[in-house]
Amino acid sequence: MRKDKPSKTAYKVALNIVTLGAKPGMNKVLPPGVFEATEKLLFASGAAGATLIRWSRSRRMVSVYEAFDWMMPGQFEAFGHRKAFCECQVRDGIGAGATQVLVLGAGYDTMGWRLAPEFAGVNFFEIDHPATALLKARGIEAMGQRDNLHLIPEDLGKRKLVDVLKANQSWDQTAQTVIAAEGLLMYLPSEAVRDLFGQCAAIAGTNSRIAFTYLCTGTDGRPDAGRWTGLVLWILKVTGEPWLWSIRPEELGRFLGETGWTNAPELTEWTGKNGVEYLGVARK
Ligand SMILES: C[S@@+](CC[C@H](N)C(=O)[O-])C[C@H]1O[C@@H](n2cnc3c(N)ncnc32)[C@H](O)[C@@H]1O
Repeated sequence: MRKDKPSKTAYKVALNIVTLGAKPGMNKVLPPGVFEATEKLLFASGAAGATLIRWSRSRRMVSVYEAFDWMMPGQFEAFGHRKAFCECQVRDGIGAGATQVLVLGAGYDTMGWRLAPEFAGVNFFEIDHPATALLKARGIEAMGQRDNLHLIPEDLGKRKLVDVLKANQSWDQTAQTVIAAEGLLMYLPSEAVRDLFGQCAAIAGTNSRIAFTYLCTGTDGRPDAGRWTGLVLWILKVTGEPWLWSIRPEELGRFLGETGWTNAPELTEWTGKNGVEYLGVARK
């Protein structure tokens, strides 16, 4: 990822969500208000103009996305399913006693902004690379700040998560927490992913959970994006946000165990693959 420019993939995910709002039936999959909030955020932050947003929420754009789905079949809708999955994990976690939510690599995700007023006793934190986080903060300011939403602009490649949160007076590392890492892990080197899970375990209290999405490793050792893997990996590499990490679902339990977590598929009804991504959840 270009360190001085807002994330292109975060922007793409957000526009994709806006377009899913024009696809019949997706309002039953995605949480209420998510399409409208994402549109608002893209506009208020200056990430996208009114014309692009209008286009993005048209049926014609749905057809365009569907036509391009040949490269990664199902991925257009998968962005919606993974958002619904993360929000479901956050709501379940809060229902089970969590008082903190941390969204890693939040991009233009609107969950924290939407849920903060509903759960006034819960502190929501988001961390993203400054180039993206500062743009988003501008949008959130225009949409209305939430007292219990903390946006932290930080490059986790440069500064450790434990240090970032230790320096934040609102963070309580003994609190039961829900951590979400949606569409993030594949962009980090393998050792950074291992280290990140370990740090997440260190900054969260007992009964915390972490919800995440990941890619499966193919037989050739690369992240598996299906039939067009070579082309997909090449496009991501030349656009500056290459996929680096993947894991086979059957290896997840051991990997999580080594980083202080317990694989907990029983905490979700979402199983199997959505587009090219798998959904995972672990508890501490
Ligand atoms: C594919 S986007 C996903 C955004 C969001 N989670 C979603 O699904 O809507 C990946 C996000 O991870 C962030 N990211 C990547 N590397 C990072 C780093 N080293 N530190 C902080 N954020 C990072 C990017 O800025 C980007 O917003």
